[in-house]
Amino acid sequence: MRGLLVKSAVATALLLASALALSQARVTRPQVPLPEGPLRNVILKNCVSCHGIDDYAFHALSRERWQDLLRDRHVNHPVKAMSATDEALLLDYLAKDFGPEGTPFPRKYIPPELDSFYDDEQGRQQLDGVCTECHELDRVYETRGSLDRWRVLLLEMRARGAHLPNDPDMERLAEWLSRVQKANLFE
Ligand code: HEC
Ligand code: HEC
Repeated sequence: MRGLLVKSAVATALLLASALALSQARVTRPQVPLPEGPLRNVILKNCVSCHGIDDYAFHALSRERWQDLLRDRHVNHPVKAMSATDEALLLDYLAKDFGPEGTPFPRKYIPPELDSFYDDEQGRQQLDGVCTECHELDRVYETRGSLDRWRVLLLEMRARGAHLPNDPDMERLAEWLSRVQKANLFE
């Protein structure tokens, strides 16, 4: 009994330490240099009046998905219409420097405390609704991991464009995945 208590205290301490490491590891921001050449003016003219260019690095998307993202994020913040040539220059750059084969810069994420949890049906519904947009669920079922690992993975999927807009819902999904696809004992 005492052994069990010590073990669970150690497990809790480890969990806290890793949650802390996770939040502390995420305070830096990405560094994105302003590109040279004609693109430089396109960006200066259209893209820097409201926010910087460094947050492009939070994403790793195809050209098509970049186009969707720019449209979606600016619905309430209209961006000046660009000429087709300027838009093509911008999208080529985004898809090249922040393309799907890259690794999105991790965002600061503070895991919310949950007061309700997904059951299997709710968890599966999320997988069917959100994840199959880009890949088969084999990828998910072939992966096992702790809550931390699932969190990081879902943040990465979100940065790739997965529709996981709400932190508590994402946390519920990570928590459910960490139960049904739990880490191997010796991982
Ligand atoms: C009129 C102000 C405005 C201009 C001009 C503007 N943006 Fe934005 N942009 C925003 C706002 C506000 C958001 C955040 C929207 C949200 O999160 O719902 C945003 C979000 C973004 C995001 C997502 C950032 C993230 O953290 O995920 C990207 C990428 C982006 N903009 C790129 C661009 C590019 C490229 C241009 C130039 C074509 C541009 N923006 C011009 C206001 C602007
Ligand atoms: C916008 C597209 C997109 C969506 C939506 C998406 N993914 Fe992914 N996912 C990817 C891409 C691209 C890769 C391949 C990344 C790589 O190989 O580096 C991937 C890889 C993975 C992997 C394997 C990662 C590894 O390290 O082996 C897992 C697990 C995964 N996704 C889980 C999910 C889950 C769970 C969801 C739904 C909540 C989801 N994905 C939704 C694009 C997406």
